[in-house]
Amino acid sequence: MKIGFIGAGKVGLCFGLYLQQNHFTVTGYFSRSFQSAQTASMKTGTKSFDNINELVSNSDGIFITTNDDQIETACRQLADAVVTLKNKFVAHMSGALSSSALEIARKKGAVTFSLHPLQAFADVDKSVADLKSCYFGIEGQEQSEILEDILNQTGNPFLKLLPEQKTRYHIVACVVSNYLVALIDYGLEIFGTIGIDTEMGLQALMPMIRGTVENIGQLGTEKALTGPIARGDTQTIQKQMRIFGAEETEQASVYGFLGRLTLDLAMKDRLTDDRKIAQLKQILSKF
Ligand SMILES: NC(=O)c1ccc[n+]([C@@H]2O[C@H](COP(=O)([O-])OP(=O)(O)OC[C@H]3O[C@@H](n4cnc5c(N)ncnc54)[C@H](OP(=O)(O)O)[C@@H]3O)[C@@H](O)[C@H]2O)c1
Repeated sequence: MKIGFIGAGKVGLCFGLYLQQNHFTVTGYFSRSFQSAQTASMKTGTKSFDNINELVSNSDGIFITTNDDQIETACRQLADAVVTLKNKFVAHMSGALSSSALEIARKKGAVTFSLHPLQAFADVDKSVADLKSCYFGIEGQEQSEILEDILNQTGNPFLKLLPEQKTRYHIVACVVSNYLVALIDYGLEIFGTIGIDTEMGLQALMPMIRGTVENIGQLGTEKALTGPIARGDTQTIQKQMRIFGAEETEQASVYGFLGRLTLDLAMKDRLTDDRKIAQLKQILSKF
């Protein structure tokens, strides 16, 4: 199976390299700028195309790995470039969109699907290595055997989704990955107020973050929860709330909101004392 890419960014390059490692043939790259296509094709030892028609004609399947807003535009360009897409597949790798973004290609005879890696792509080498254990969210037409064949060959596990489930699925991916990054940045900001700079702060926090994530994987969220809310240490939480003063700043409301969320989780397993639960609810309701 020969696979081509439209959109030579991070995901296109990393997934192309990963497919090659798993014995697929990557035809090459077409991108908005020829320079990006050339960079990706050099890194994969494949061809850079300045003509979309040539890429499509030389490929059995196309992954559109542009940014989400450009997927439909790129798909239209692809569909307009050829008479038929029969016996080919066209896929995108967005978590936010369903395969309906590829409707125009489906009308021209292509099998269409979306294949979203539940992974954050920051560094190329690390991302390609991480792909080995990555889960994929898959969604598409009934003839998605092609898709399952690809994942069976790479050995990746997957979650099957319906088109209408994709937005909720993507909320989860954004919250647990992107918001986690923002949350750590929130902690570093508070460290900054006591003179601990970002570099030192991150170095100091990383072992705890890794340990927490491992505990979640091994024990599940309810049992992995530790700390003053899970223990019912009301005075500690009272003291922390006072640090924010009387004014409802953004920093204070994030603390209060996440505290209430943590209390809900603690009540599922760790914290059973009704008096303490009521006190914590009252303390955390300030912001
Ligand atoms: N990044 C992640 O962590 C991640 C994780 C899971 C899924 N995804 C999904 O993967 C897809 C790609 O994301 P990314 O992070 O790789 O984005 P990216 O690094 O910004 O790359 C997007 C590429 O698409 C090219 N492009 C934009 N519009 C185009 C068009 N109309 N025709 C052809 N090429 C076009 C850009 O071209 P030029 O460079 O040529 O200007 C750029 O190289 C998205 O659907 C995203 O939701 C991303």
